[in-house]
Amino acid sequence: MKGVSVKRGDKLDDIWDRPPHTAAKHELLAMYLDAWFAIFGQSNRGRAVYLDGFAGPGSYKGGEDGSPILAVKRLLEHRAFDRLAGTEFVFAFNEGDPTRHAELCRAIERLKEPYGDAWPKSIQIVEPTNLEFGQFANGIIASLEGKQLAPTFFFIDPFGYRDISMKQVAEVLKYPACDLLIYFDFNSANRFATAGNVDHLFEEYFGSDAYKNAPPAGDPRRAEYLHDCYEAGLRSICKMSHIQSFAMETDGGRVGYYLFFCTNDLQAFDRMKAAMWKIDPSGGFRFSDKFAGQNVLFGPQQSTAPLRHAILKNFAGRTVRVPEISRWVIEATPFHSGQLKRATLQPMEKQGEIAVHRPHSRAQFNNDVTVTFPQT
Ligand SMILES: C[S@@+](CC[C@H](N)C(=O)[O-])C[C@H]1O[C@@H](n2cnc3c(N)ncnc32)[C@H](O)[C@@H]1O
Repeated sequence: MKGVSVKRGDKLDDIWDRPPHTAAKHELLAMYLDAWFAIFGQSNRGRAVYLDGFAGPGSYKGGEDGSPILAVKRLLEHRAFDRLAGTEFVFAFNEGDPTRHAELCRAIERLKEPYGDAWPKSIQIVEPTNLEFGQFANGIIASLEGKQLAPTFFFIDPFGYRDISMKQVAEVLKYPACDLLIYFDFNSANRFATAGNVDHLFEEYFGSDAYKNAPPAGDPRRAEYLHDCYEAGLRSICKMSHIQSFAMETDGGRVGYYLFFCTNDLQAFDRMKAAMWKIDPSGGFRFSDKFAGQNVLFGPQQSTAPLRHAILKNFAGRTVRVPEISRWVIEATPFHSGQLKRATLQPMEKQGEIAVHRPHSRAQFNNDVTVTFPQT
């Protein structure tokens, strides 16, 4: 595709050092992709598409992989790779800066080289484009016109807020089975939204002018308002029903940006939340450069105590099957299904808080098991 590349707006080298919050982002992406490849690679849809609109140069100064290389490697090294061979995985990367784009092309060559003719036929890496993001997105929208899109994972990871329009993102995502992982430039929004000088950009960024009603700088409610305003856009404009954000504290313990994960698939949502809990076992959905590499002190039961209370409250006086409880946990709480049975229901049963009925099986919390909750 012909188009214009971007003039570099950041002060970084072609390839830069990978900060801890980027390593955390990569870990999150890698864990989620393990699940995504398995879910959609075995769904008999024949094809799955991975889009990265701000792909970067493909590697960091210390030799770590950038997100495009990481994504492909995660598939190549997937433990169920043989079972996924019936699905064609298409990777489309875009990097706007010409020098970084050239680096990215070289990184892909380095990745493929050792395979030679043995490169898996099920993995197609489209030649990376060197376009401004809007053009990349428009190209995808045009190529999809009238077609049923394959399950798609869309990664949007810019440095700032200037190059993205919520409505354009929504156009790419208007087909079913699209997941989105998107960077929300909280730091800039917090500093400049309502300052009046870049209003038109924020209107595109948020998808509406609701951000203008944010409480003024210094008001403790401002941060939450801006976060929720962006989330509301993802919900109403991009039509995403399950959304979970993850805060990245980049300097001095302040939130620099959020990663928003959005999907309409409950299983996918469950897997991403599980990945987020691995990065932050406190359940705070937050990573801090300041504490990178330090051990966390939360055990699984300590951290699921709020889930226990929420379940007791929500199902008070009712008898329900385990899958219904699980569905509610994924949909309506910050927890994931892996925290329900052993870490939550089992101790509740032991302590006589719930009555468990197991009709046909001896298995702990099978799908046919029902649970009676006390009245509150
Ligand atoms: C945060 S970095 C990407 C990092 C990469 N996703 C990773 O995790 O390894 C953002 C990239 O977007 C590129 N970029 C900046 N503005 C752009 C634009 N308008 N369109 C496309 N790419 C752009 C920058 O050159 C930079 O390489």
